[in-house]
Amino acid sequence: MERMPVWIDTDPGVDDALAILMALASPRHRVLGLGVAAGNVGLVHTTRNAIKLLEVAGRSEVPVHAGCDRPLLHRGPDAAFVHGRDGFGDVGYAAPRGRPANTHAALALLELSQRHAGELLVVTLGPLTNLALALRLDPGLPARVARLVVMGGAVTGRGNITPSAEFNIAFDPEAAHIVFSAWPRFDLVDWEATLRHGFGFDAFDRWVGEGGELARFYRDISRASRAFSAARAGAWHSADGLAMAVALEPEAVLESTVRQVEVELGGQLYRGATRVDWGRPEDGEGNARIVQRFDQERFVGWIRTALAGPPSA
Ligand code: BDR
Ligand code: CA
Repeated sequence: MERMPVWIDTDPGVDDALAILMALASPRHRVLGLGVAAGNVGLVHTTRNAIKLLEVAGRSEVPVHAGCDRPLLHRGPDAAFVHGRDGFGDVGYAAPRGRPANTHAALALLELSQRHAGELLVVTLGPLTNLALALRLDPGLPARVARLVVMGGAVTGRGNITPSAEFNIAFDPEAAHIVFSAWPRFDLVDWEATLRHGFGFDAFDRWVGEGGELARFYRDISRASRAFSAARAGAWHSADGLAMAVALEPEAVLESTVRQVEVELGGQLYRGATRVDWGRPEDGEGNARIVQRFDQERFVGWIRTALAGPPSA
């Protein structure tokens, strides 16, 4: 079977790392490259983390393209308080051997979208800065992408970085606005769906304890973020992991609804919020298929497969 080509735009980040490992482990997909942006932490760290993760996974042939080092217009706070100052739990891992590719992430995506026109699956796990830039450079991009899956938003206003906004959208609302208004239809996996798909901390400890070098690496880089969550919530959540599961196995989506989603750009309290017109009867119109429920057993299956390590390329 032909493997589906995948481009991942990301800001690793502990949950990004799990999502990337899931994609690498999928027998039905081929990861063509990673585009990296600033988000959870600065671009130097997110790029280095992406390269390191691929090396630990034995997949250093996958190119890492550094992209935007800041949001399009306004700088905002990062998420180092969750992911660690280096984005990977500050464990002091040995420096990666590899280097990023020469091409900017936005240009690399445009190039791949030409080469794999009509086949490419694009998954975004971070702020939408690189994708917005690619769209501005080439508004024909959506027509060449088979499917776009976005992790972002809080569709009834229960945010995580502010009371009403989710981190990936709030970090660069203008970029999200550009993507949401230009892309005719994308799958949206928001923070509220993430909250419905948590795991027990004990189960997760067991999974990372059972694997080899890769699982141990993941156990170490995620330790601080798991402790952070344990102090605040009854379960551990992997927003990017859920988005990737949706991307890799759309058949396991159990509930979704198609709606128009807009991004609030102004406002004192609501900047970066995602507004959904819930009052209108569902009519199949709208830019986003909002994923509400995914098969939890399949999600767990993907996580365990990811931690076991990818099959050879
Ligand atoms: C999103 O924000 C980031 O901190 C995570 O990596 C994820 O992409 C969840 O709101
Ligand atoms: Ca992320």
